[in-house]
Amino acid sequence: MTKDELKSEIIRLKKEKRAVILGHYYQIDDIQDISDYIGDSLALAQEAQRTDADIIVFCGVHFMAETAKILNPSRKVLLPDVAASCSLAESCNGEDLRKFKEQYPGHIVVSYVNCSAEVKAESDLICTSGNAEKLINALPADEKIIFAPDRNLGGYINSKTGRNMVLWDGVCVVHDAMEAESFLKLKSEYPDAPMVAHPECNSALLAVADFIGSTKAMLNYIQKSESKRIIVATEPGILYEMKKNNPDKEFIVPSGSDSCSCNECSYMKMNTLEKLYLCLRDEKPEIILDSDLIEKAKTPIVRMLDMSKELGIIK
Ligand code: 13P
Ligand code: SF4
Repeated sequence: MTKDELKSEIIRLKKEKRAVILGHYYQIDDIQDISDYIGDSLALAQEAQRTDADIIVFCGVHFMAETAKILNPSRKVLLPDVAASCSLAESCNGEDLRKFKEQYPGHIVVSYVNCSAEVKAESDLICTSGNAEKLINALPADEKIIFAPDRNLGGYINSKTGRNMVLWDGVCVVHDAMEAESFLKLKSEYPDAPMVAHPECNSALLAVADFIGSTKAMLNYIQKSESKRIIVATEPGILYEMKKNNPDKEFIVPSGSDSCSCNECSYMKMNTLEKLYLCLRDEKPEIILDSDLIEKAKTPIVRMLDMSKELGIIK
């Protein structure tokens, strides 16, 4: 099938089956185009929780689809490529986290949403890059905290909140590999351009960024910025939405990373239009989770959403 045929079949199947397509900003352009909602992890989790569609097709990575299933277990949740994982989720499993917790009695566990359902079930609170700082600030000042699994996001939140959270040693392979030197070079070439970065980047890179935030927060910053050029330190899939919303602005990335190269998340890019079509047609791969696991993992995610509403981060 041609790309256009695939797109019209996806739209037809979506209507016929009362399905909704949720897409992350790092998905390929064609998937972003055909998604009903595009967003960061927080917005997509909220959308998954409130949808009344019969089927949720999650165009993102496995932990995102799992989160959708946990929040809305009566829906069928599909992921076009079940192998679309995440290095952070892979860095930490339930058993290892249980052992880690034993070393730090009296600590609660705050986990970044980029983790498996098993890890969520071992956690007291979940956060995303869009709410982490505010949620941690809302916890009692003397609370002892283990933060898993992203040591870069955890370190960044420690620096912003003055906490001393114990950090699990995981990284996003994509953001951690971005080098401060390449961005410093860009900053000297484009001194008028502010630099935005995702908090999964390493601390050396974050130290030279002008704005640090989730994918959605970076988009908001750019929208409001009067600068005509912006340096972008995150996965290049987001450039599609950045350019769409800001046709008059120029986005600067290290050479070669604008289309298909070093900064791409290979997991996010596993989903293709063809796999999306097949997954809607055959209603698989489906995310299936044990009901006990769903119950345990749901508590810290719902706590995150409730706190985010109380703190005015989401509506
Ligand atoms: P956001 O929640 O900022 O969209 O991040 C998701 C992610 O996987 C970043 O690598
Ligand atoms: Fe995971 Fe990094 Fe890919 Fe996001 S960009 S899904 S954190 S590997």
